[in-house]
Amino acid sequence: PRSAYRVWLSEIMLQQTQVQTVIPYFERFITALPDLPTLAHASSDEVMALWSGLGYYARARNLHATAKLCVENHNGDLPVDLDALIALPGIGRSTAGAILSQAHGLPLPILDGNVKRVLTRWRGIEGYPGTSAIERDLWQLAQTLLPEERLPDYTQAQMDLGATVCTRADPACLLCPITDDCIARRDNRTAELPTPKPGKTLARRECAMLVAFD
Ligand code: ADE
Repeated sequence: PRSAYRVWLSEIMLQQTQVQTVIPYFERFITALPDLPTLAHASSDEVMALWSGLGYYARARNLHATAKLCVENHNGDLPVDLDALIALPGIGRSTAGAILSQAHGLPLPILDGNVKRVLTRWRGIEGYPGTSAIERDLWQLAQTLLPEERLPDYTQAQMDLGATVCTRADPACLLCPITDDCIARRDNRTAELPTPKPGKTLARRECAMLVAFD
């Protein structure tokens, strides 16, 4: 069931971790701490033990802090409001959009790394997606694409498309359901989009090497 608590927990766990790795951690966590007030009242030792092995432990500390704030300020639930969600530790605009669209059906987009890759390729959008101008355009595009029906499935499908088909290296365009009007595919530019982060120009250095064989 896509309750706000379950969507939130899974989104935080999935932020830097693959789905296959997350599943057993999610199952254990949700069994031990099945709702937000239980998480809020758990000891930090218990929360960290349940997270142990997943890495990026700031995620677990933020999760616990957010649960406590929700008990203090939001009657023990995650707020059903974009700005109030973004104000909580560890919740950015995309995670807030995922929670509100998946758990509450609110028409809000998501824009994580996977979705940025899908959209920049599909629409042929040039420029590093981390710049604020490109990011603003992508949020706007993502908003205009929201469907009237099956919004929670649409939200999930975008993430799955990016994670399994429109992968960074060697995307499976033959299997892709939106390949027909994909600009990167048409122009054979999937390897160039999304535009990579502009690198620093590296200083040129020379050095002589002596290799000894015996
Ligand atoms: N990465 C972040 N959120 C995800 C989700 N809901 N499904 C798959 N991968 C994800």
